[in-house]
Amino acid sequence: MRKITLSAILITGFLSAANQSGEELFKLKCAVCHKMGEPKQDPNAVAPMLIGVATHLNEVFKSKEERVKHIKEFVINPTKEKAICPSVKKFGLMPSQKGNVSKEELAKIAEFMAEQKGMSQATHKKMQEKGKTAEIMFKMMDSNGDGVVSKDEFIKFKEQRGNHQGKGMHKHQGKGCSK
Ligand code: HEC
Repeated sequence: MRKITLSAILITGFLSAANQSGEELFKLKCAVCHKMGEPKQDPNAVAPMLIGVATHLNEVFKSKEERVKHIKEFVINPTKEKAICPSVKKFGLMPSQKGNVSKEELAKIAEFMAEQKGMSQATHKKMQEKGKTAEIMFKMMDSNGDGVVSKDEFIKFKEQRGNHQGKGMHKHQGKGCSK
């Protein structure tokens, strides 16, 4: 029974490599890092979401052929100079996927990626703003700058914010609306 299951798995694995679509291969080989679905800010993310990569690729490369070419080159030989995603600063350079994908697989994956629509301009702007606000807030909370917000830092931040808001309101009432 065991033997049958094992060979069944091996055969399926062998056959599927040739039959899988670009999307299936992407899920298998790339989606561990590039999450799929609607855009969201994920503090645990290790790479930009698929939709985020697509948004930037579509902005820079107007034709699908150019996008396919860039993806194929980048995935095997990524460099900081080649990277067009601004998130290279946040996540660091993508490790080369040479060995993880065959040429045939990459060709299918690149087609699939190059066909992705990306975000609307409005959503993109919103995501950028959210990202910026989150980063600024985090830096404000992390008062000792160790990259971790402790409970004490969080409480201190909340107290300070309370005070600031109080002052802000007074100032506003005093000046802003009087004349
Ligand atoms: C170990 C995590 C990881 C895996 C696996 C991974 N990537 Fe990436 N990828 C990243 C990170 C991080 C970035 C953003 C930084 C950069 O551009 O190098 C990125 C960026 C990209 C970009 C944007 C390049 C640019 O011009 O900025 C493309 C295209 C891409 N990946 C394709 C793929 C494909 C296709 C696969 C699967 C074969 C894959 N990635 C697998 C981490 C990963």
